[in-house]
Amino acid sequence: MAEGLITRGTTNVNRLRRCDRWIATWPGLRRVGRADVVDLGFGARAITTLELATRLGKVRDDVHVWGIEIDPERVATANRELAAVRPPVTNVSFSHGGFEIPEPRDRDPVVIRAFNVLRQYDVSEVDGAWATMLERLHPDGVLVDGTCDELGRVSTWLALTPTGPQSLSLSLRLTDLESPLIAAERLPKALIHRNVPGEGVHAFLLALDEAWRMNASLSTFGPVQRWQAAVAHVAATGWPLIGGRSRWRLGEVTVAWHAVA
Ligand SMILES: C[S@@+](CC[C@H](N)C(=O)[O-])C[C@H]1O[C@@H](n2cnc3c(N)ncnc32)[C@H](O)[C@@H]1O
Repeated sequence: MAEGLITRGTTNVNRLRRCDRWIATWPGLRRVGRADVVDLGFGARAITTLELATRLGKVRDDVHVWGIEIDPERVATANRELAAVRPPVTNVSFSHGGFEIPEPRDRDPVVIRAFNVLRQYDVSEVDGAWATMLERLHPDGVLVDGTCDELGRVSTWLALTPTGPQSLSLSLRLTDLESPLIAAERLPKALIHRNVPGEGVHAFLLALDEAWRMNASLSTFGPVQRWQAAVAHVAATGWPLIGGRSRWRLGEVTVAWHAVA
């Protein structure tokens, strides 16, 4: 039986681009023998799964993306959409399933992307869903549990390895960004209720906001310069950031899980 609940199938073209470009840098993706990737809960359309396959196909030409969805009607729709793609796409498959991840059979995916899936569950269900998905993950793999807005301009995600959560990433469209606090509305389910005084994630967002405001004068040189300076300040004040300036340029920042857990 498929584990989980049918929830709203809302999706959109290109909305997961920020996370996909981060996934493309995952070291295990280059190391594993077979690059099986799961897109769990692809929603009402095939589009974000097809986009993931195209993006990761630039990293390895043997990537296969398995779209898994708990609503059988959405699987049928995705299969019709897949069949209509020209030239034909051969490295994507769609199947019915839930957190137990029925495909690929007998192999462990190196990436499981579950985007905008757990946000519709109760917070008490998150640990169990993570544990079930992590059982399926390759030892070198990553489970990405994330959330974003409709257009993918505000995106946050947790990266988990078989030993548990490792990091929180925020990725924001910097043009017209008023405050990084906008990420608060789109935190992954495990953190959204923790964004209150006394909690690490709350302190982290405030530190980022303060650094963003402190560097307002750099707006003259553009929002990327301002963001880079803000993130550099956050790092200098002791927050355990992961990944360097090349990620910051993208409007991204990643912090170790222990600081926001
Ligand atoms: C909001 S859509 C997200 C679509 C796409 N991932 C995106 O971010 O644009 C969430 C989808 O996850 C599906 N879903 C929820 N729980 C699931 C589970 N346990 N296993 C597979 N799919 C699930 C829902 O049926 C729904 O279609």
